[in-house]
Amino acid sequence: MSHSEYTRSCQSRCCGPLKGTVRVPGDKSVSHRALMFGALAQGETLIGGLLEGEDVLNTAEALRHMGAKIANGSDGLWRVYGVGVGKLTEPACVLDMGNSGTSTRLLLGLVAGQNFAATFTGDASLVKRPMRRVMVPLGQMGAQFLGRTGDRLPLTVRGADGATAVTYELPVASAQVKSAVLLAALNTKGRTTVIENKPTRDHTENMLRHFGVDVVIEPTESGGEAISIEGPVTLKPCAVDVPGDPSSAAFPVVAGTLIKGSEVTLSNVLLNPRRTGLYETLQEMGADIRFEHVRIESGERVGTIVVRGSGVLKGVRVPAERVPSMIDEFPVLAVVAACAEGTTRMSGLEELRVKESDRLLMIAKGLEACGVDLEMGEDSLTIHGTGKPPKGGALIETALDHRIAMSFLVLGCVAKEVVEIDDASPIRTSFPGFIDLMNDLGAQIDTGSSF
Ligand code: S3P
Repeated sequence: MSHSEYTRSCQSRCCGPLKGTVRVPGDKSVSHRALMFGALAQGETLIGGLLEGEDVLNTAEALRHMGAKIANGSDGLWRVYGVGVGKLTEPACVLDMGNSGTSTRLLLGLVAGQNFAATFTGDASLVKRPMRRVMVPLGQMGAQFLGRTGDRLPLTVRGADGATAVTYELPVASAQVKSAVLLAALNTKGRTTVIENKPTRDHTENMLRHFGVDVVIEPTESGGEAISIEGPVTLKPCAVDVPGDPSSAAFPVVAGTLIKGSEVTLSNVLLNPRRTGLYETLQEMGADIRFEHVRIESGERVGTIVVRGSGVLKGVRVPAERVPSMIDEFPVLAVVAACAEGTTRMSGLEELRVKESDRLLMIAKGLEACGVDLEMGEDSLTIHGTGKPPKGGALIETALDHRIAMSFLVLGCVAKEVVEIDDASPIRTSFPGFIDLMNDLGAQIDTGSSF
């Protein structure tokens, strides 16, 4: 099936055990950063395993508009010819970031530390997402902004002509905000510090070190971390191997866990401990998931995931402190909870309201349509599983959210009746090849409507 067929509605039905060894596409967070840091290094950075999903392609295109040369070779490697920190140039057109909040927030940080202006826009989902969270610290550093009411895209940033170093304590647990400030800091004279009280993904810190930047990380009195950069810095071009995305691996892992008799191996997956909250939770629920060949590559922990179908799992309470390490995995965890025996309680989920969709609402609406008993709070979700697969038999609204789309297709793999999603096209943003990969393992996902 070609990826162009993802534009149609799509349905999945109950299938037998999943079997096989697969590689999921490259990690989205690492891919964005590899392109950005490559563009800021002086010389050629070689990237293997880059995610060629729409979100990352939008980052590449924006960087090209700012003067970086980026080419994908027939050898599968991407070459970035960086121009150096502070040497990118003003884009002549509006930068369309499609569905990608990460591209937008990180690039706003990058431009904030440069003496030029850029205007960002995006699709119907992205123009609803809050940008104030990056505008506040970047404004303190000297950048100016003009956006729509409510600080939404389209948004113009005029970077500072000599940005001011700041110390900024994150009011939300967001790696995007932390990374935006650190990106601006690269071209800012003096010591910029970001304080985070809850650990969020640290790919920016890891990769900056890989590019030769001195990133100082110190514990704070309140148990958090202070991350500092003394700017301006120089990035040394290097080779980056992007490991598979644990947020994408989550879908075949969950399907393999839920279907008895399954045996699925996923090689070369990113296993950074700040990203593996879902796997920890699944193990607590009784899933048979093992990690093998664990190693460090390009500054990141990587390994093989081996999953065996476990039959019935048990409901659990997911601690709120774990939320940042599985922030993108709640839609698919909700599917597991719906099949598990007993109640699964999830709290501290306020950030799910401002993802690609209001994820809390879309999960609750979709599961209820499939016959699942649940309660949704402002920032919590309680799901009462019966230990049996849900009824299914519903058409699910995906609201331009790739993770809602894939999660409900996974639900369809075990539900009693077919589950259909209204639009599979957002899957292209993060997981090109998802349907083929799942079907190669034994799933029955096809395009076209039955409703
Ligand atoms: C990301 C951080 C997370 C995550 C997003 C990718 C990143 O967002 O949801 O998919 O690459 O930094 P927040 O930092 O806003 O939680």
